[in-house]
Amino acid sequence: MLIDNPSTPLPRRFLPCLTFARRLFVQNLERLFNDNALWGDFLGDGMFVPVGVTQATLTVYFDGQPIAARQGETIASCLLRAGVEKFRTTPVSGSPRLPFCMIGHCFECVVEIEGIGGRQACLSLVEEGMHIRTQLGAAELQGIKL
Ligand code: FES
Repeated sequence: MLIDNPSTPLPRRFLPCLTFARRLFVQNLERLFNDNALWGDFLGDGMFVPVGVTQATLTVYFDGQPIAARQGETIASCLLRAGVEKFRTTPVSGSPRLPFCMIGHCFECVVEIEGIGGRQACLSLVEEGMHIRTQLGAAELQGIKL
């Protein structure tokens, strides 16, 4: 038998175990990613709690409109989930822009947060009562137009 034969290479001896573990994982995949209680027990209040399992208990304001937000999510994900169609306009043509990379590289997501322009929404977390505005054209910095 494959498992009992000592001449069988080690990886092949573990093959039945790996196959069983893989089948178990695939069968429980949906439960694994949708079970709030499981994530809560497994991850606790650590830094890797998926925001999808938390309730939208915060309120942020985008151009004066209230939007429900989840603790720990970025402004970009909150605004995209709410269906916002324009985060900023370009300084040259005024064309609308939305987040592209979601990791801080493209700067397509810049918005005005609490009166400060040029802030990347994909790298900023929501806070209760936060006021966010569409950035129209270039950001202004202490009266200086960039
Ligand atoms: S989406 Fe690219 S920097 Fe924010």
